[in-house]
Amino acid sequence: MERMIYFDNSATTFPKPEPVRRAVGQALVYCGANPGRAGHRAAMHTAEAVYRARCTAAEFFGADSPEQVIFTPGCTWSLNTVLRGRLKPGDHVVISCVEHNAVYRPVSALAAEGIHFTAARIFPGDDGRTLESFASCMKSNTRMIVCTHGSNVFGIRLPVEQIGVLAHERGAEMVVDGAQSAGVYPYDLKKMPIDFLCCSGHKGLYGPMGTGLLIARTPLRPLIWGGTGSRSADANQPEEYPDRLESGTPNVPGILGLAAGIRFVMQKGTDRIAAHEERLMRRLRQRLAQTGGVRLYVEPEVPCFPVLSFNVGDVPSEETAERLDRAGIAVRAGLHCAPLAHRWMGTAEQGTVRVSVSAFNHPEKCDRLVTILKDWTKSKKTS
Ligand code: ALA
Repeated sequence: MERMIYFDNSATTFPKPEPVRRAVGQALVYCGANPGRAGHRAAMHTAEAVYRARCTAAEFFGADSPEQVIFTPGCTWSLNTVLRGRLKPGDHVVISCVEHNAVYRPVSALAAEGIHFTAARIFPGDDGRTLESFASCMKSNTRMIVCTHGSNVFGIRLPVEQIGVLAHERGAEMVVDGAQSAGVYPYDLKKMPIDFLCCSGHKGLYGPMGTGLLIARTPLRPLIWGGTGSRSADANQPEEYPDRLESGTPNVPGILGLAAGIRFVMQKGTDRIAAHEERLMRRLRQRLAQTGGVRLYVEPEVPCFPVLSFNVGDVPSEETAERLDRAGIAVRAGLHCAPLAHRWMGTAEQGTVRVSVSAFNHPEKCDRLVTILKDWTKSKKTS
């Protein structure tokens, strides 16, 4: 593990910053009582720490208030909360053709409840056509557009702000899957046409796995019901946020670790992290493009988040990833839980090898990956 080159940051960032590791450990030592469940000082101390974490997330995303910040176990949970909490039988939803299963599976399951969806085709590098495509999918009963800000397979960035304007013009709500963008995109929700932002806490925000965020700017039905530590005599779920959407004991070490991750991003600067990762991707892409037999899928001028997919000829993507793993490089291969994106790109059979970077990756490690691939393809030719 020590000498591994980790390029699977779209699955979860690794390593985590030292302040994040420290915050998780300290939470177990100093915030061991259950927040909001008692009036004793230990419980109040934890509750205050969680509230500060909520304020940090609200500030980072430009939420209108800390109460709009809902801590969840992950982006999938956040997305399900919005879809289940907002849609009714007879509603129609528009998604994109590159959605992760975190969107595709819940909207597919909702068909049994009379809620149907259409997947809009995207046109990388041509926001105007992408927008027209979304517009052509809208119907009189379209209640919501749910789309990823960036493909978790190809990195392609979608013009979510323009799509949000379209949604609002047509009386629909805009839901963004920010799993790949949070931490490298400067969100300021006060100024953006986004009603619900769903994020992972453990990717570009550098929190622990099992953490996520939902910034809910509009009321929602809960996904689960239960104890909130408030209005205990009432059989109904409280109307107040975040309590309404946060039943059960929260993941305090995870939440405090996530807040430390967000502070790490704020201190480094979203723009600086994004610029660093873009440089790495540019370098890798250029070198891969010069490597015989390597197939890339996205034109260099297309705006992307720091995720890149490739294949070596017709070699199954898993075989290439296994070869890299044996050489000490961790990448993900296959469909990346996003079959729609692969069907659209024509890679559903082979899958792709995915490289995704973080603030902790270095340019020479990108070169190392290319060298290993070159040596391997050379040895394949001669064997
Ligand atoms: N959604 C994560 C990925 O793309 C797990 O790998």
